[in-house]
Amino acid sequence: MRIAFLGKGGAGKTTTAAGFVKYAASKHPFVLAVDADVNAHLKSALSFNGEAKQLGLHFDEITEFLRGKREDLGTRPIIGTTPPSAKSNFITVNANDPFVSKYGLKQGNITLLTVGTYQQEDVGGSCYHEKLKSLAGIFHHMLDTDNDIVIADTTAGTDNVATSLSFAYDLNVFVLEPTEKSVQVYLDYKAIAGDLASRTYVIGNKVDGQDDAEFIQGLVGKDRYLGSIPFSRNLKSFEQGEEEAINDFHGEQATAFTELHKKLVASKRDWQQYLDRLHSTYKWDCERWYSDFYGCDMLEGIDKSFRYENALAQWCPQAKVAALV
Ligand SMILES: Nc1ncnc2c1ncn2[C@@H]1O[C@H](COP(=O)(O)OP(=O)(O)OP(=O)(O)O)[C@@H](O)[C@H]1O
Ligand SMILES: [Mg+2]
Repeated sequence: MRIAFLGKGGAGKTTTAAGFVKYAASKHPFVLAVDADVNAHLKSALSFNGEAKQLGLHFDEITEFLRGKREDLGTRPIIGTTPPSAKSNFITVNANDPFVSKYGLKQGNITLLTVGTYQQEDVGGSCYHEKLKSLAGIFHHMLDTDNDIVIADTTAGTDNVATSLSFAYDLNVFVLEPTEKSVQVYLDYKAIAGDLASRTYVIGNKVDGQDDAEFIQGLVGKDRYLGSIPFSRNLKSFEQGEEEAINDFHGEQATAFTELHKKLVASKRDWQQYLDRLHSTYKWDCERWYSDFYGCDMLEGIDKSFRYENALAQWCPQAKVAALV
């Protein structure tokens, strides 16, 4: 199960994602947190120590790992949207998974993966989609089961729809402040997201009373609204150095998180639909750009016999997913 926190800049995505990581970690044996924002703040919001490896800097190394024992690709490179084959390497959601333990920063039962930020050589010539390519490859080779929890903090705005990460999450949650501008980001997303909108919900943040909650509900619809997190004096006290105040803030987030958690555990991924989307995105990428760029027919690199269900049965037998014949 994968959930992404989205919304306008400054709405509280990172604060809410970090709170939900802690909430989920109190209910599940393991949580994989993902900082998918180039302005990486999830590590500090989780109060993690140590240096996080930046996935965006290790694209070649990561794609070579994902390639595994594939011979069907020949010399074709792996791009962010390359669909897996049965001979690929996969990533499972636990602290001992070789990929997770190599690239993740672990604290207690939470491991954090970080896309990472720009380097000096990126100045003036790099786009953050370049950084997100590694994460796309990782998600498309991730075999998370219905018991696994993956929580991502994302970049501000509606940009999520513009990459294959748009369908990588089972649940999208917009963190909205009770202002027109903040809600508009969700409405803009909804207008273009197609069927992804049906797995997208809203949490009100910095909500000051019932009027604020009703303001957001009036614009997004009650059926999309999972709950409110108040404008918190406790969070401010925490940010001013009063460490214990964070527990009181987590208490203020708990009601909304209970509803969110219910939605998340009830979500079921349609692996076939996921694979179909990945195939069409890969095809689109290759036809528009990559086949010309690499001077080869990249589409020949699709293993049409691959099914995620079979990989799950092999790599995660505890998930009890029946292999397809
Ligand atoms: N419920 C809340 N009550 C009071 N302040 C809050 C609340 N939630 C977030 N904030 C404050 O709002 C500011 C922005 O929060 P945060 O960094 O989580 O937003 P963001 O959406 O991740 O921003 P960015 O778009 O820069 O990534 C921070 O100073 C944070 O402390
Ligand atoms: Mg943030």
